[in-house]
Amino acid sequence: MSQANVEKHSPFSCISFSGFNTFVQTIDLMKHLVAPSILSSDFANLQSECDMLNNSDADWYHVDVMDGVFVPNLTFGMPVIKAIKKHATKPFDVHLMIVEPDKFIKDFADAGADILTVHYEACPHLHRSIQRIKAEGMKAGVALNPHTNVQLLEDLIQDIDLVCLMSVNPGFGGQSFIENTYTKIKTLKAMIQAKNASTLIEIDGGVTSANARKLIDCGADVLVAGSFVFKSPNPTETIKELKSL
Ligand code: DX5
Ligand code: ZN
Repeated sequence: MSQANVEKHSPFSCISFSGFNTFVQTIDLMKHLVAPSILSSDFANLQSECDMLNNSDADWYHVDVMDGVFVPNLTFGMPVIKAIKKHATKPFDVHLMIVEPDKFIKDFADAGADILTVHYEACPHLHRSIQRIKAEGMKAGVALNPHTNVQLLEDLIQDIDLVCLMSVNPGFGGQSFIENTYTKIKTLKAMIQAKNASTLIEIDGGVTSANARKLIDCGADVLVAGSFVFKSPNPTETIKELKSL
């Protein structure tokens, strides 16, 4: 594969955030990304969890924001993200599980989001939401619930930097992986290639070392892992294991 093609198809082609260029350059261009979800981290020791992630093979922080309306759970918002951002040395992949996300796009940019992902099911004017995210200097992600067909993104795929395929119903960590996700990845990958887009495919929910290889082989670029990382005896080693697959 030529260097140009490597860059075009690489998960890194869309993450040259200013300030992270040196970091990006040091990584194998063909490798999938690992984004531990801090939802399963120790909230009483967030600074030491940040130190662990900074010194690990993790590529991004995955940050789950829930509003108790779009999903039946509440997590945290801008003040907590701002506080963590001070200690983090890697990009923030912020996953909004909230209704009316457009109201808060600028606030999440100010809080430190590098990638901002909104749910298809929460955005009646998705094209506008994507443009607003980009106008604030962030990469734009769109998440799909397990029941949402990937074909619904066909007309927009070239505008989307990342599609987050939910492989559990959003709202909680520690749920079991939904097997139909493999088919969705393949369909989405074919669509991305057919449209000559550079969209990354992220898988979120129930990711473990038992399914990670198959997810990558189907076309996943980014693996989110919460409980598998943070509930393991040695999170640093678990991240390394996911990264080395
Ligand atoms: C679920 C969240 C996920 C969650 C993943 O609504 O979006 O990011 O933290 O957790 P695990 O890996 O435990 O399924
Ligand atoms: Zn998530």
